[in-house]
Formats: sequence, C-alpha cells, structure tokens
Amino acid sequence: MVYMGSKAKIADYIVPVIQSHIAVSGSRTYIEPFCGGCNVIEKIKAVNRVAADKNEYLIALFRHLQKGGKLPETVSKDEYDRVRENKERFQPWYVGAVGFLASFNGRFFDGGYAGIGYDRGRKRDYFRENSDNILKQMRRGGIAGIDFMVKDYREFAPKGCVVYCDPPYEETKGYECAKGFDRAIFWETMREWSRSNTVLVSELAAPSDFVAVWEKETNRSIKAGGHSRATEKLFVWSGK
Ligand SMILES: C[S@@+](CC[C@H](N)C(=O)[O-])C[C@H]1O[C@@H](n2cnc3c(N)ncnc32)[C@H](O)[C@@H]1O
Repeated sequence: MVYMGSKAKIADYIVPVIQSHIAVSGSRTYIEPFCGGCNVIEKIKAVNRVAADKNEYLIALFRHLQKGGKLPETVSKDEYDRVRENKERFQPWYVGAVGFLASFNGRFFDGGYAGIGYDRGRKRDYFRENSDNILKQMRRGGIAGIDFMVKDYREFAPKGCVVYCDPPYEETKGYECAKGFDRAIFWETMREWSRSNTVLVSELAAPSDFVAVWEKETNRSIKAGGHSRATEKLFVWSGK
C-alpha cells in the first residue's frame, strides 16, 4: 500500500533479517505495533502475525479488504472534503479508503486531494493508482490471516514474541501521527520489551545502548516533492 513512511523499498532487505530472528528465537508470534501500510508484515512468515496501528480507519480498511470488501470507483473532491469534515457519519473503512487512497503519498487527509492530477504533463488518476496498489497487495496473499488491532503501541505487553517497530521518524515534523510521539518513552518501552522478546526497530538513529544490525543508504522523498539521502537502520537493544 502506498503509505507515508512506507518500508516497501527496503522490505526485501529487512524481511530476511527479521525472518532470521524469528527462526533463531523459535517465536511463534510476530507483532508489528506500527503496521502502517503493512508493507513489511505482508512478507513475513510466522505462525501468528499481529498488525496494529493507532489509526482506526487504516485498520478498518484492511479488515474490510480482508473480508473481500470492494473499494469505491472514484472519489470526487466534494466527497473527499465531506468525508474529511464528517468522519463520524461514514463507515470507518470508507473514511480509510478516502483518506489514504485519495490523498497524495498515502498521507491520511494530510497531503491534499489526489483525484485526477498532472505529473510533469502526464495525466494521473492517483486514487485509481493507490486503489490498484492496495488491491494488488491483497491479491499477493500476504495480508490473509493477519490479526488486525487498533492499539496504541504502549497497550501491548508481549512475551516470547518477535516485535518489529517502525514508528514515525523523528524528522517527520508535521506528520500528524508523529505529533506528540514521546521518543524517550518509546525507547524505554523497547528496552523493557527486549528483556522477554526479540525486538527490532527501524529508525535513522537510536540511543547509544541500541546497536544497528542492518543499514543501507536510501533515497527518501520529502514533503516538498524532492529527495534526500538517509541511512535506514534496524536496531536491537544491546542490554547494557
Ligand atoms: C512509519 S509508519 C509505518 C509504515 C509501515 N512499516 C509500512 O511499511 O507501510 C508509522 C505508523 O505508526 C502509527 N503510529 C503512530 N503513533 C502510534 C502509536 N502511539 N501507537 C501505534 N501506532 C502509532 C502511524 O499511524 C503510522 O501508521
């Protein structure tokens, strides 16, 4: 799924690393408390897979598609504005479909309306492209069997699991979900969970008691439409 902060481009690199930790630990349960567009968990093999996110509309959209639900053919600008202003009047999956698939770059009602648009002179139907993308993801089959939950990550108390955390990055200022995200509490929770689970964290930087077990320089898109270089890393707690 096209998603703000998606790990789709690095999934082929980090999935084998996560998968090897599942094999070595012998854990039956894999948890992604910040699942977003599910671009990582869809490729993971585990006996039980749990995907959670605090965005209830995102989880409702995945559950709707898991049950074979359809997507709207088109979303007009008027409809987009109506849904954005009156979320409580619509079904949560529909708010998710409009908010994620009809906004630029999968930013939930944050990137602006992306119905028909023009990209360097080329006509684009972004809603159709984003819909095709998530429907293709459903057809690949990796979403089947995932147990979806609406949760703040701090509501989890995992034991004996492999947990992959992909929180909103520190530098993503203005990103709605990153607002009010307390980094100190996050890293303290990662230490706590690491005592009885295998915990891997995607971030650009971490406190000094975390070590990078994988890294790769990548191009990242930024809000103005440009690109910057960044080194994506996977961290685990050193225990010291
Ligand atoms: C970087 S995105 C995850 C992207 C995902 N790995 C992918 O490849 O599509 C971070 C996600 O964390 C969620 N989030 C932010 N704060 C959260 C919290 N306190 N608890 C749970 N989820 C949260 C956001 O809604 C967002 O979907």
